[in-house]
Amino acid sequence: MPPGRVAEDVDLEDGRPPLRILRPASSEALIDEQAFAAGDEYLPYWAELWPSAVALARLVAREDLTSARVLELGCGLGLPALAAARAGARVTATDWAPDAITAATDNAAANGVTLQAVVADWREPGPLVARGPWDLVLAADVLYEARAVAPLLALLEALAAPRVLVADPSRATCEPFLEQAAERWNLAATRAPDRPMVRVHELRPRNS
Ligand SMILES: C[S@@+](CC[C@H](N)C(=O)[O-])C[C@H]1O[C@@H](n2cnc3c(N)ncnc32)[C@H](O)[C@@H]1O
Repeated sequence: MPPGRVAEDVDLEDGRPPLRILRPASSEALIDEQAFAAGDEYLPYWAELWPSAVALARLVAREDLTSARVLELGCGLGLPALAAARAGARVTATDWAPDAITAATDNAAANGVTLQAVVADWREPGPLVARGPWDLVLAADVLYEARAVAPLLALLEALAAPRVLVADPSRATCEPFLEQAAERWNLAATRAPDRPMVRVHELRPRNS
């Protein structure tokens, strides 16, 4: 295990062995005031395993995603991406934090799972569109700041995937996101998994 990491075994309740997630022992120790002040108010949120990631991974683990092309946005430690890869998908996990991409890559290796993990900023659709098309886009707990709403909606429109799953722990920013998403997307389902406050919203294009 890389130094300074702890391991957490996550049971996806899919009858398969748990996924082993390696994460920093303390995300607070990673806070870098210079990086915060340098722009983008960067904080190391990637270093925590958030309840939305567990909920989304459990949902994805129950699907047959054989050969599906799956993109995860803001993947952090990469749990939903790992679940999708184990369900048969060809997965690209993305985050703007290079340390998250290292962690997601390590977690794939720790579980014998194949995926691609690349640094990508959801405010810049070009590189993510170029890697598509995608059958499914995943995102867990990415709506924690109001400033994420417009770029994520623009990105989802540009990606034009037939299905998007957004897991969110009832953050205030999720409501305006869903309201604005309704102009282009049908809210096909909202599932309330066994996680406090977490909802998984399934979006499909209005014209599908
Ligand atoms: C609250 S964390 C959630 C991490 C992971 N999805 C989970 O649920 O455990 C938000 C994630 O979004 C990433 N992020 C924030 N802004 C981003 C941006 N502009 N582009 C890509 N990723 C971003 C962070 O680095 C972090 O990993």
